[in-house]
Formats: sequence, C-alpha cells, structure tokens
Amino acid sequence: MADKKIIIAIDGFSSSGKSSMAKQLAKTIGYAYIDSGAMYRAVTLYAMRKGISTPEFLDEERLVAELPNIEIGFKVDEHTGRSRTMLNGEDVEDIIRTIEVSNQVSPVSAVAEVRRDLVRKQQAFGLGKGIVMDGRDIGTTVFPTAEMKVFVDASPEVRAKRRHIELAEKGQDVSYAEVYKNVCERDRIDSTRKESPLRKADDAYVLNNDEMSIEEQNEWLIELYNKIVSLQK
Ligand code: DC
Repeated sequence: MADKKIIIAIDGFSSSGKSSMAKQLAKTIGYAYIDSGAMYRAVTLYAMRKGISTPEFLDEERLVAELPNIEIGFKVDEHTGRSRTMLNGEDVEDIIRTIEVSNQVSPVSAVAEVRRDLVRKQQAFGLGKGIVMDGRDIGTTVFPTAEMKVFVDASPEVRAKRRHIELAEKGQDVSYAEVYKNVCERDRIDSTRKESPLRKADDAYVLNNDEMSIEEQNEWLIELYNKIVSLQK
C-alpha cells in the first residue's frame, strides 16, 4: 500500500538552502513542491512595475487594492522538469530572483493583507496533501498541523556566501558586502514583523546546515520523512 500522504513544512532564514533541499525532497518522494517565497517575490515584482513599491517607499493602500488583480501560479518546465513562477500568465521565475526584488520583498511581505491573501492561496495548494512547501511561516501559520516540520538555520555569513555565489553564477554583478547586508536586513524585518514573524514552530525539527554538504542535508531530510511516515497510521 502506498504511504499516507502528508504535508511537509520547511521554514528558515533567507538563503539557508531550504528551497534546494525542499525541491530535492519533493522530487525524491514524488510530492508537489511550492516555494512560498516566490509568491511574495511575484507580488513585489508586480508592485515595483506599477510604481507601488520603490527602494524608498511602499504604497500599502494601493498594493492592497491591487491584490485581486494579482494571479500567481506555478508551471513545470517540460524540458528541465523545474517549477517556474507565473505572474498573471507571464513566466517571472528569473526576474523575481534579482537583488532589486530581494531588496523590496520584505516590506511587501510584512503587509497583513498580502499575507492573508497568499496564506489562503498556499493553503489551497495543500488541500490534497502530498506537498512540500518552504517559507517563513509554513509550520506556524499556513499549515500548523503539518505532519513534518523542519526549521533550517545557518549563520548569516554562510548564507550570504552561498547567495553571492548563486547570483554570480547567474551573471549578476553584486558585491558580497551588498548580499550580506541584504541577508541581515531581511532577517531583521522577517523576524520582527507583526504578522507571522519568522520563528521556529515548537514542534519543528531544527537543521543547522553550516557544516553540512547538500547530500548530507538531503539524507537527513529523507531519514526524518521515513521516520515520520512510518509513525503515521
Ligand atoms: O525564501 P525567499 O528568500 O525567496 O523569500 C523572499 C521573501 O519573502 C523573504 O524575505 C520573506 C518573504 N516570505 C515570507 O514572508 N513568508 C514566507 N512564507 C516566504 C517568504
């Protein structure tokens, strides 16, 4: 008999590597993967294009009024098998990863109405279970009853180094200092905001991956998954 499908919530700081490991876990166990951060990034891109969000200013009122016009989805690229983020029918997967979007995403994701709207959409993705979702508040707010919760932690230096390499590989010319500043600033805003701040759920397993290879992290996750599934009735 097939294993009972569960919900897997993976939360953690920005650039902690949670998306890569969540994606790999979903692929290994045949689950859907949803990157909730991509949804906040897509809303931010929309706001930037409309002039609602600039590096200096966010017009919260206009943003909230625009929410019904923002449609976010995911499409699997048939060549690579990877998920691509869609904003009102446009593939925005690459542009939402730029440093310009990263620099404006935290204030946008601190707006209560934005969170309410996206949390509702995220919960709808989980209706059929069999899903791995990563983010900041998945184990605490989106799926508080998820069967498996993981909180990924790593030092800001290690995370900034990883993100810097990733951006350089994509041809984005940004200094380590700027990436480090962005990582620390996002940590600060994400963990101190009023609406669902980033925090570990009481029943989450902690994975500190400062000193772990990607393979070791994947193994750790799959072992935990097997253990949890074997305990399900
Ligand atoms: O995971 P990421 O770095 O792509 O996320 C981008 C931003 O979105 C992050 O700075 C905080 C926000 N976010 C959030 O507030 N809640 C989530 N569940 C996921 C992301």
